[in-house]
Amino acid sequence: VSKELQAMMDAHELLRKFYHHLLVNTKEGQHALEYLLNRGFTQESIDKFQIGYSLNSWDFVYKFLTKRDFLPEWMEKAGLIIKRERDGTYFDRFRDRIMFPIFDRHGNTIAFSGRSLGADEPKYLNSPETAIFNKSKILYNYHLAKPSIKKMQYAVLFEGFADVIAADRAGVENGIATMGTALTDEHITLLRQNVQTITICYDSDKAGIEAAYRAGNHLHEAGFQIKVAMMTDGLDPDEYIQKNGEDKFRNEVIGASLTWMAFKFLYFRRGKNLQLEGEQLAYIEQIIKEISKLDNAVERDHYLRQLAAEFSLSLEALKQQQKQIYFAEK
Ligand code: GTP
Ligand code: MN
Ligand code: MN
Ligand code: MN
Ligand code: MN
Repeated sequence: VSKELQAMMDAHELLRKFYHHLLVNTKEGQHALEYLLNRGFTQESIDKFQIGYSLNSWDFVYKFLTKRDFLPEWMEKAGLIIKRERDGTYFDRFRDRIMFPIFDRHGNTIAFSGRSLGADEPKYLNSPETAIFNKSKILYNYHLAKPSIKKMQYAVLFEGFADVIAADRAGVENGIATMGTALTDEHITLLRQNVQTITICYDSDKAGIEAAYRAGNHLHEAGFQIKVAMMTDGLDPDEYIQKNGEDKFRNEVIGASLTWMAFKFLYFRRGKNLQLEGEQLAYIEQIIKEISKLDNAVERDHYLRQLAAEFSLSLEALKQQQKQIYFAEK
């Protein structure tokens, strides 16, 4: 590792500890700590995830690091401070935010995501891409979740950090999340080394359901077994746990995950009025197309029967249509 990269990592390590200290032990961090405790974060998860607070100051980090002989040029490249065009002076990137350290898979701190306490935009401010941080390769919490992922033989993929942390509190320790982006092929390569089944547990709002469909397809095409865990009322996992408790989350959300096909049955029916003949036929055709993609004849038969029963159709007719679609697509 070059001196520059080492300095970038050392600075992150130092700041992680200091941000955490500010949150947990100081008067300046008290409002941030109260915000977290009000949201249901516990002292235990604040420690486990090393959550911190960045001061409401333009140059605290700049001074903190330069006093310790870190070069401003390098710290700018690390994304911790930003250079003013006007006069070449520097200011802190993260100010008055809840700080979530981002770890690489060895547990080195390589970036931060800072959440605003109020309505300040952006809600989450991430470190920029740097020589030590490439967000298309990083999965939040992967380093801590890995043993549990291996033991449970599945990983739970969440949308947000708060969801990973709330789920962990609820005993679901195999949770990971992207940095607010879509899942990349690099993420998939990383996952493939340790696991074959992924439970997608995204926010149950419209955007989350669409994103779950996209992530599910991507993972399914990459050969993973997919399940989808859903919540009621458009909640996200963190909100669900606060409202309904940890046991319900484990048993009625994660424990009641849908198979990938069952999720698609629900997904394609959203926004359709199945009482209307035309919409019903379109839905049935869509589902038959999905069924045609299955390699396993027993599975195809199973889902065709399910479809036949639900719409009081003859299994023969569905099978015939499925064969037509199957050959048309070949
Ligand atoms: P909370 O409001 O703190 O519970 O966050 P959330 O995780 O519920 O946020 P949301 O569902 O809106 O977004 C999901 C994820 O997208 C977040 O965890 C972030 O990683 C990312 N994200 C959300 N807002 C922003 C933003 O303003 N900028 C960036 N870069 N990422 C964001
Ligand atoms: Mn791909
Ligand atoms: Mn959302
Ligand atoms: Mn959310
Ligand atoms: Mn949330």
